[in-house]
Amino acid sequence: MSDLQGKICVVTGATAGIGLVSAQRLAQMGATVVVVSRNPRKCDEVVEAIRRQTGNSAVEAMPADLSSLNQVRAVARRFLDTYPRLDVLLNNAGAIFTSRQVSAEGIEMTWALNHLSYFLLTHLLMDALKAAPSARVINVSSDAHRIGTIAFDDVQFSRRRYSGFGAYSQSKLANVMHAYALARRLEGTSVTVNALHPGAVATNFGKNNGGLWGRLFELFSRFTLSPEEGAQTSIYLASSPEVAGVTGQYFYRCRPKPSSPASYDVQAQERLWELSVEMAGL
Ligand SMILES: NC(=O)c1ccc[n+]([C@@H]2O[C@H](COP(=O)([O-])OP(=O)(O)OC[C@H]3O[C@@H](n4cnc5c(N)ncnc54)[C@H](OP(=O)(O)O)[C@@H]3O)[C@@H](O)[C@H]2O)c1
Repeated sequence: MSDLQGKICVVTGATAGIGLVSAQRLAQMGATVVVVSRNPRKCDEVVEAIRRQTGNSAVEAMPADLSSLNQVRAVARRFLDTYPRLDVLLNNAGAIFTSRQVSAEGIEMTWALNHLSYFLLTHLLMDALKAAPSARVINVSSDAHRIGTIAFDDVQFSRRRYSGFGAYSQSKLANVMHAYALARRLEGTSVTVNALHPGAVATNFGKNNGGLWGRLFELFSRFTLSPEEGAQTSIYLASSPEVAGVTGQYFYRCRPKPSSPASYDVQAQERLWELSVEMAGL
């Protein structure tokens, strides 16, 4: 088992599914784990359960609705006021919305939660990441990115007909492109950045939608990996000595794998970066 004693890890979306298993395992390996999720009561319950199961008391809740840029800023401030550095940032919180919704700041929900929160949180925690001897940023993406395109003229589906899968695959492509663009910017530093596909995993994913879509996701989850299996690549990238220094890659089943051709378009990555800077108010 890898030794994470003394390492400080942030796991977003750690109250269910892949994020919950990842947080548990990192705590079991001795890390200090900060659980960032939207529901304060669930965060507290998860922290208590992880402490009990692992005997590691260095597990803390920092609740935040990550679809809100203001709450991303607040939780980043809280982290920076509490901890001197960050060794692992696991950007995992994500969802699919089958009808168009907007965040507290009026941004289309999928883009706000799945992409802008990864982008802004990573940016705000960058000095803490650079303060660690070697730090890892991990974006939980999806193979759904392969059917995604970044519609630079309308990322929020304001003018075209909304598609939940279109918005989701776009956001997951953005996770991969963000990882590649950031890895390029961080070349020669001690911070690595990678993205991953967890597989098709039986979690709460999609069930937030209720109705027919909720039932379809329920049905889908009977044919998929367990959350324990789905979390393996996240845990591997967060903890394995095998990937020390490895950066700018896409992983599946703990192995690097090519991502979609579109994700390697450096010009599009840079355009996405500029758009994200603007939308995140940086
Ligand atoms: N499941 C799959 O088959 C699959 C496949 C490919 C990629 N992924 C990716 O894997 C990641 C994790 O998904 P999952 O399957 O584990 O889903 P999940 O079981 O629904 O868990 C999602 C986590 O994110 C949290 N979350 C949701 N909205 C949030 C918000 N606004 N602010 C803060 N936290 C929020 C949830 O909190 P609550 O506990 O309060 O709901 C939960 O902890 C996502 O990025 C997803 O795109 C999943």
